Formats: sequence, C-alpha cells, structure tokens
Amino acid sequence: MTNQVEKAFQYVEDNKNNVLSVFKEFLSIPSISSDPDHANDIISAAHWVKDYLDKLGVSNTALLETGQHPVVFGEYQCGDDSKPTILIYGHYDVQPPDPLDLWKSEPFIAEISKNRIFARGASDMKGQIMVFLSAIEAIVKTGSLSVNLKFMIEGEEEIGSPSIEAFLEKHKDLFKCDFVLNLDAGSLSKTQPSIVYGLRGLAYFEIHVFGPDHDLHSGLFGGVVRNPVQVLAELLSGMIDEQGIIQLPGFYDDVMPIGDDEKSEMAKLGLDEDYYKTQTGADALFGDSSFSPTERIGARPTLDINGILGGFTGVGPKTIIPSKSMAKISMRLVPNQTPRNVYTQLVRYLEKNAPNGIKWQLIRLSGDSETPYVTNPNAPETQCFAEALKTIWGVDPIHQREGGSIPIASNIQNILGASSILSGFGLPEDKIHSPNESMDLDMFWKGIHAVILYLIKVGEKCN
Ligand code: BES
Ligand code: MN
Repeated sequence: MTNQVEKAFQYVEDNKNNVLSVFKEFLSIPSISSDPDHANDIISAAHWVKDYLDKLGVSNTALLETGQHPVVFGEYQCGDDSKPTILIYGHYDVQPPDPLDLWKSEPFIAEISKNRIFARGASDMKGQIMVFLSAIEAIVKTGSLSVNLKFMIEGEEEIGSPSIEAFLEKHKDLFKCDFVLNLDAGSLSKTQPSIVYGLRGLAYFEIHVFGPDHDLHSGLFGGVVRNPVQVLAELLSGMIDEQGIIQLPGFYDDVMPIGDDEKSEMAKLGLDEDYYKTQTGADALFGDSSFSPTERIGARPTLDINGILGGFTGVGPKTIIPSKSMAKISMRLVPNQTPRNVYTQLVRYLEKNAPNGIKWQLIRLSGDSETPYVTNPNAPETQCFAEALKTIWGVDPIHQREGGSIPIASNIQNILGASSILSGFGLPEDKIHSPNESMDLDMFWKGIHAVILYLIKVGEKCN
C-alpha cells in the first residue's frame, strides 16, 4: 500500500467520531422528496452537501435549478487534463419514513446499535454519500487528488428523477465526463462486494374506478349495479395469472431474452429459494418458475399492486356499495421495454376488460425517463474499482443485475454518452424504504477505504 493511501486511512482512523457525528447531522434532515411539506428540508439537505463540498475545496459549487429539487454541482480539477474526469453521482433525498409506528428509533434521529446506524436514508443513500465525501476528505487533507472530479447530487431520485432528462440535456457540457461513479446500487453481502451492470426501469400508475355517483345502501340497491371495488379487484387479478405471468397484451414482446452465458453467471451467485425466503420472511416464493429467482429479479419484468383503496374499512359493519375505488400499481421493466409502451398496453387491457356500468381513469405517476439500464459487465472503467474492492474485501467483486431502479443511469448513458460504475456498500438486509433502515458500519468504513484506494489508483496506473 502506498504512503498516500496509508496516510488517508490513518486520517479516517483518527476522525471516526467526527465522521459519525457529521453523518448523524446529515441524517437528521428529513429530505423527503415526495412530500411538499418537506420542501425546506430538501433545500437544507442540498445546502448541507454543497457546504461539505466547499469545505473540501471543490470549485464552482452551486445548487442548480431543475423542475423541482435542485442538483448540487461542483468540480475538482487536479491540474492534469490527461487524467480522467469522474462524475460522482448521489441523491440527497430519501423515502418517507412511514409507517412510523414500526420504527424502533426515531427515523430522523440517527442511533447506533449493534454496529449499525439506524435512520431513514442511512443506507439509501446518505450513507453512501458520506462514504465518498469522507474518502475525498481523507485524501485532500493528507495529500492531493490526481484525478478530476465532478459532482451531481440530486434531490429527486426517490420520486423517479422527473426533471433529470431535461436537466441533463440543458447541462450536457457542464457534466461532460469520462464515466460515472454511482454508489446507489449496493453489495451482495458483507463478504461479497458487487459491481452492478443492470437495473430495472419503472412504470407507475394509479387506477380509479367509478360506479354509482354516491355510496349506496347495499340493501336498497344491492343486486342492480356494479360494485367498483369488486370491479377493481377483478381487473387487478386478471393482470397476472397463477404462474405469475403478466397478462397485458404484448407485455413481453420487447423483453430481451437472457443469454445462456448470463444465466450461468447468475446461477453462480448462489442465491437460492432459501436465500429469498430468509430475506423476505415469506414462507414460499412466487413467480414465473421457468426462471430462477435471481433471473426474475435481475432480468425479468414484474407487475405489483402497491396499494389499494376502496369502500368502508372503519370499525364495525357498514352496509354500502361504494361509489369508487383506487389502486396504485407499478411495473419493473427490463431492456428493451419502455414506460410508454407499457402504458399503452395497460390502457388496452383496461379497454378490453373493464365491464360496462363503471368508468375508469388511469393516471401515470412516472415518466418516460425511468427506463431500464444494462451495460457491459466488464467495461474497462470498472476494472480499477473492482481492484479496489478486491484489495479491501479480499475477494473479486461479483457482477450482477439489480432489480431496483436508478433512473439517471440510462439518462446519463443516452445523453452524456457515459457509462456508470454502479456499486455501493448497502446490503440487502438494510431495510431500505422500510421502517428501521440502517447501514452496517463495517461496510461503511470498508467502503471509505475502498473509495480512497480507488480514487488514488485511478489517478495513477489504472487509466
Ligand atoms: N438505491 C435505490 C435503488 C437500488 C437499490 C438499486 C438496491 C440497486 C440495489 C434507489 O434509491 C431507489 O430506491 N430507487 C427507486 C426509484 C424509483 C422511485 C424510480 C426504486 O427502485 O424504487
Ligand atoms: Mn437510493
């Protein structure tokens, strides 16, 4: 290990308490992008990141306007144009903490217990932002960077990055880079780091069904009109069959088949049925059994009911035929499906299957830009990062396709022409988007070491 790396590692060692208290401060800002009541917190979190970059000596830092929440920008020039320019991506926004009563600690007062830090955003992804900020800090406080950096830390990821496509078009030149480092994707396990080469896209909808123009007495009118809750239940249940195959017309037409080589790579991950039972707490798995669970998560599309509303659900009985019902549904998409085509397929399904006597309305809650992403698993720019992971973990990282979505990855690929190193130090057991989200602190410190090593190496021999 070089002297520079050792010095930076020592800096981290000497500053652990400080890093944790700054991390806790970041976690205390409820930067929930979906909730207009937290608009000020979004701005505070953006400023928090900008101020941190300023302290690191990053130049031209700014909060850049988007349609909604600002993007934090900054750049660091090492003075050598022959060195690569890496765009470091992150998102400072978080998911809502609900349901609150299931949290064992306060979601926005970070608590450390059992070597984990608990708070909304601890893993997804304020913890990952803290990792790269701390790594850069350790390098610049003990020496200097020999690579050019740009920063793009957005505040709309958890709502699907609706502004990001137009934003990237507008700022194409500003964000020109050789490739992107995006730590929003996570590791397979504590002992097995990952490099992610695929993500699913997302299409999200609200379906409303309207029946009688007011709630009816079910004795006076029962037997003569359609019940919108019943109709919605039937429409939803017709969308997937017993085998887990999605029934929208043409849904699988654009799905890229999984190659035999890829199938055998996926099998090597060793994620069997028991693994998913343990992770989920479900006593049996469900889904298209002609694909393994790993294949289904990484490379096959889904359709899920995310929530359903209708009729009387209060205490005791109330005999009504409700006048309306609503469901939220979403599809995870794989190459080469597009959110727009899926929307058309859903409209066709509803047109064909909705009975008379009700009206339906379909609202899109996600945009055209939430497209799936896949890249070359062995892209040259991942090599150096893979080496850094190997040095810290002692094993080669595995290459995997993840089931989650990060809308910016495909937008960066299409608009900036840059591919992303997708990785991160979050684990499947971190409960991201759920109550009691946390980040494992061993992963956190190791992540800082890995990023230090990477940023030093990438400026030397790796490129
Ligand atoms: N960090 C996640 C995505 C993720 C998680 C990728 C684990 C790979 C492994 C990200 O913040 C996220 O949750 N994205 C949303 C995006 C959606 C709102 C468009 C998602 O996937 O639901
Ligand atoms: Mn995230």
